[in-house]
Amino acid sequence: MTVPSITLSSGHDIPQLGFGVFLVPPAEAEKAVSEALEVGYRHIDTAAIYGNEEGVGAAIAKSGIAREDLFVTTKLWNDRQAGTGPDDAIRESLDKLGLQYVDLYLTHWPAPKQDTYSHAWSKLIEIRDAGLTRSIGVSNHLPEHLDRIVKDTGEVPAVDQIELHPAYQQADVTAWAAEHGTAIEVWGPLGQGKYPLFENPAVAAAAEAHGVSPAQAVIRWHLQRGFIVFPKSTRKERMAENFDVFGFELSDAEVAAIDAIDPGDGSGRVGAHPLEKH
Ligand SMILES: NC(=O)c1ccc[n+]([C@@H]2O[C@H](COP(=O)([O-])OP(=O)(O)OC[C@H]3O[C@@H](n4cnc5c(N)ncnc54)[C@H](OP(=O)(O)O)[C@@H]3O)[C@@H](O)[C@H]2O)c1
Repeated sequence: MTVPSITLSSGHDIPQLGFGVFLVPPAEAEKAVSEALEVGYRHIDTAAIYGNEEGVGAAIAKSGIAREDLFVTTKLWNDRQAGTGPDDAIRESLDKLGLQYVDLYLTHWPAPKQDTYSHAWSKLIEIRDAGLTRSIGVSNHLPEHLDRIVKDTGEVPAVDQIELHPAYQQADVTAWAAEHGTAIEVWGPLGQGKYPLFENPAVAAAAEAHGVSPAQAVIRWHLQRGFIVFPKSTRKERMAENFDVFGFELSDAEVAAIDAIDPGDGSGRVGAHPLEKH
């Protein structure tokens, strides 16, 4: 199965569907990522704070898959934004991953009370220019944070990775991204199992119409909206289910019905708010 790619503003291609490893315990990460690679995933999304970069790296090393056929993302944690923290953090991440470079390095949260996210972004530019990552981006940045880093550095992030699912679509961030050529990566694409997406009538109807699971219908919605998506599961059968989303297409009416799930008042959010996260 060939996963479609999106060309980032950096000129590098990213597989639109990947595998996320948030809350995959360190001791299980090698097994989970090995299974995901067996299923066919070639894009892995991890972060220093997940504590599982070693397991991700071990699975990659054992897979025998050529480095250029993989897309690996990791992220700078909030307490490493200041000073030379980012320089040290990327080297530690590469060491744990056993890689010479990552494909994408992200500032994990703006953590605006520290007021170091713009400095961190300037360090990511240096890290990219030093060849330690192919592309750079941010995560959980709202338009005010995005405007600030672009004003301070002139560099537009290749991606913004944000919480996004049918009940929480962050129209202000996606509008900023569309205007600036920034790709949207979504986290919590299935609502992290915390939002009752699968029982929603629009999701259930689309799933039934195509003979797929509600999770597959939701992943398909993300793909058709043009988002980059990497659902997490530690169960191999679900990894396979979440990967098997290229044999059907939602109609425009089905996409519109799922679009309409968002109550529009922010109440669908299941994770932390960027202004509150330290
Ligand atoms: N940048 C950030 O701040 C940030 C924050 C959170 C996440 N992320 C990234 O985004 C990735 C995905 O988000 P997420 O892991 O938070 O949430 P998610 O992918 O929306 O949801 C994962 C949950 O859904 C369950 N699940 C997976 N496939 C399923 C299926 N087919 N049917 C029913 N349930 C299913 C999983 O359970 P099982 O494992 O038991 O199958 C798990 O409980 C993360 O792994 C991480 O890489 C980034």
